[in-house]
Amino acid sequence: MEEESKIYPSSDQPRMAALELLRLVRDEGAYANLALPQVLRKYKLNGRDAAFTVELAYGVLRNQSLYDAMAQKCSSRALVAVEPEIIDILRLGIHQIYAMRVPDHAAVDTCASLARVSVKGKDAGHIKARVGFVNAVLRCITKSEFDIETLSLGERYSHQDWIVQAFEESLVHNGLAERDLETLLRANNTAADPVIAVREGDQEIVGTIPGRWSNQARVLTDVIPLELDQVRDGSAIVQDEGSQLVAQAFLLAKPTGPESSWLDMCAGPGGKAALISDAVPDGVEFIAVDLHQHRVDLMSKIVGSSAQLLTGDARERPWGNRFFDRVLLDAPCSGLGALRRRPEARWRKTKRETLALTGLQEELLLAAIDSTRIGGIIAYVTCSPYIEETWAVVDSVLQARTDIQREDARDLFPGVSDLGSGPYVQLWPHVHGTDAMFFALLRRI
Ligand SMILES: C[S@@+](CC[C@H](N)C(=O)[O-])C[C@H]1O[C@@H](n2cnc3c(N)ncnc32)[C@H](O)[C@@H]1O
Repeated sequence: MEEESKIYPSSDQPRMAALELLRLVRDEGAYANLALPQVLRKYKLNGRDAAFTVELAYGVLRNQSLYDAMAQKCSSRALVAVEPEIIDILRLGIHQIYAMRVPDHAAVDTCASLARVSVKGKDAGHIKARVGFVNAVLRCITKSEFDIETLSLGERYSHQDWIVQAFEESLVHNGLAERDLETLLRANNTAADPVIAVREGDQEIVGTIPGRWSNQARVLTDVIPLELDQVRDGSAIVQDEGSQLVAQAFLLAKPTGPESSWLDMCAGPGGKAALISDAVPDGVEFIAVDLHQHRVDLMSKIVGSSAQLLTGDARERPWGNRFFDRVLLDAPCSGLGALRRRPEARWRKTKRETLALTGLQEELLLAAIDSTRIGGIIAYVTCSPYIEETWAVVDSVLQARTDIQREDARDLFPGVSDLGSGPYVQLWPHVHGTDAMFFALLRRI
């Protein structure tokens, strides 16, 4: 580590760091946001250099199929036959040329030098070929006009085709127009400021502005979460505004009759359970469950003392043969609604794996219903707008049960506009500025 820091000129440390982050994502299946702190530490980056690294790496991850289409137009070789690291270097160069205010010559020269220094133990001819190729392609890019209108939406906005189709179907199904599709794809490619949920009082926090909908939300415009005392001491948690609205909607729902027990069935790492635990009335028991011990451990750090934590498979009802007044099922899902915040996620999802989750979602929803008392409510939630994981799951379970009625969930989102024609709520990044959370309200009758 030390040795590498000395080899590379300090001005190129952010680019080296971005290249390394891309390699970790590509070769080791790393999550960019989790690998980032370790990479920034290794290259001793902070402040503006760290921000530059993040913009570079995340920008490339978000736009890579557009950049590949551009690079291919300027390459005499088929890109599939080019070393993956060289492709990453080309993407980094194109992002600087097209999306950042880096002068063309600086983008070309620094990427050519990346092609030289990032390779170890190769012969001089190989290094020369790498540098020559990067130079030639990027110089061509700076001189070319690209008509991106000729590209498919998937290429232009760097989404897999099945995901573009899933968004289009969901927009139409939820009463939005087809023309919203491009706005949504663009919103998925726009970095979202971090948001926190304030758990105590009505605090003003320097470096933040109030959220758009949730009175607990503060958007971090000039600080990063760990710079805030409130985040460090746990009186605020990092949480998208859509998730805050979901937790608040769960709290606003009204079971009939007196209440004594609430359940969050898939609660780790505990964001929604934390807000719920803050609002549990005296005399009400709140149980929060997750399949994975490490997620229960994470949850234990943020939920209030009113919550009892359990580890187990919610389909087997580790809480035993008992009935709750309110049950939250924030189901394991594709996460297609949070692409803004997880830049590499869009390349990892497959349609097959996503559809395979729907069986689990249905089984969990049936377990939720079986653990709800008559007059009690069930909130079925996903961080995905994909119809197969949302409407289709709820409708399929409703067909199998005669003891459940759907209710209009829009009433639980007071003040939030553009909630469609119900009865379910679908939030959208391009409409609400939140992750695309889905919320269905069911009542056991
Ligand atoms: C969407 S996340 C929940 C997020 C959480 N509600 C929050 O706000 O932080 C889904 C969770 O379901 C858990 N899970 C997956 N299968 C499960 C099962 N069969 N029983 C219980 N939990 C499960 C996962 O470990 C994951 O933590």
